[in-house]
Amino acid sequence: MEISDHTKVAILGAGRDGLALLDLLHHIPSIEIVGITDRNPAAPGLQRARELQIPVIINVPDLIGNHGVNLFLDATGDPEMEASLHAHKPPGANILSGSASRLLWKLIRHESKLEAELLQSEKLAGIGSFAAGIAHDINNPLQLILGLAENLAEERDLTTVHEQAQDIIEAVKRTSAICRDLTRYSRRASPHQDVLVPVNEKLDEALKIARYASSLHDIEMIKQYQPGAAVKGNPDELLHVLVNLITNAVHAMERGGGTLTLETTVHDGQVHVRISDTGCGIALDKLDEIFEPFFTTKAPGKGTGLGLYNVKTIVNKMHGAIAIDSQIDRGTTFTLTFPKAEPAG
Ligand SMILES: Nc1ncnc2c1ncn2[C@@H]1O[C@H](COP(=O)(O)OP(=O)(O)O)[C@@H](O)[C@H]1O
Ligand SMILES: [Mg+2]
Repeated sequence: MEISDHTKVAILGAGRDGLALLDLLHHIPSIEIVGITDRNPAAPGLQRARELQIPVIINVPDLIGNHGVNLFLDATGDPEMEASLHAHKPPGANILSGSASRLLWKLIRHESKLEAELLQSEKLAGIGSFAAGIAHDINNPLQLILGLAENLAEERDLTTVHEQAQDIIEAVKRTSAICRDLTRYSRRASPHQDVLVPVNEKLDEALKIARYASSLHDIEMIKQYQPGAAVKGNPDELLHVLVNLITNAVHAMERGGGTLTLETTVHDGQVHVRISDTGCGIALDKLDEIFEPFFTTKAPGKGTGLGLYNVKTIVNKMHGAIAIDSQIDRGTTFTLTFPKAEPAG
């Protein structure tokens, strides 16, 4: 991220338009919202700003003159405000007002819709490539059920009948668990839903799904979870991130197996999530490229090249960071760092 990317924004007006701008812009890491203001103390955007710990500034001339704002978004629709902004804004600061700021809002909303579409299509493409694994996992209990049912048709001993019926019930439960996990994963992430997400649980959930991506047979699993690792974000999106990183790790160890390590640690108000493999590694000069959309070294049908692009988008949105440590033929560690979320209350 370049420093020149950083924009300090002030939002004037905290009604419907101001609130929408606030909701959309606060997700973007390179934008700092230095304050929001409204004449009406009960304006909905002011309430939201307090929740997001964004300064509510009552004194408008102070907001205009003293906060180093680069961009004023005027969502008041008030011609007096417009005049006052033009008269008092610091030189070099820009103003977006009226229909222009509504246009901005529409564009951002459109972009976030496109992003959600991209996420969804990548997820579905992923599930397509899981098909063989899923079929295998569903077929095993089905074969078992078939065998048991054939036995039952002949069985006379009541105790054995009961036992085998119980085995059938267990096998059916296993199959429906697979279907449940997959349906939950394939559904669209519900938008704008930031909640407390327990990371360790999500890692386990992701592991169940990533199993379908590739066989975990020759892979040793190590889990080192620190209890209480929780972050703020959209649970569906975080799951998507973890499934992607685990799938990549497993793919990297396709030849000859290896060790997959999932680790969480919490310190200094930060949650670290580490996903390590002992696979093929990533060449130093590829480290930037791998985040580009459609960059893949995998065969068609196996990779879309959208995985890490989406991972980066989501992690940015959660105000997190990604670090990679990799050595050719030794393995790769992806470390995600998020601000620690405190349980409410
Ligand atoms: N853990 C890893 N080990 C080695 N290479 C990796 C790893 N993760 C990602 N890569 C490389 O980055 C590329 C892009 O990954 P990604 O965006 O997830 O797309 P895809 O998995 O569909 O190829 C992969 O094709 C692979 O070359
Ligand atoms: Mg991938």
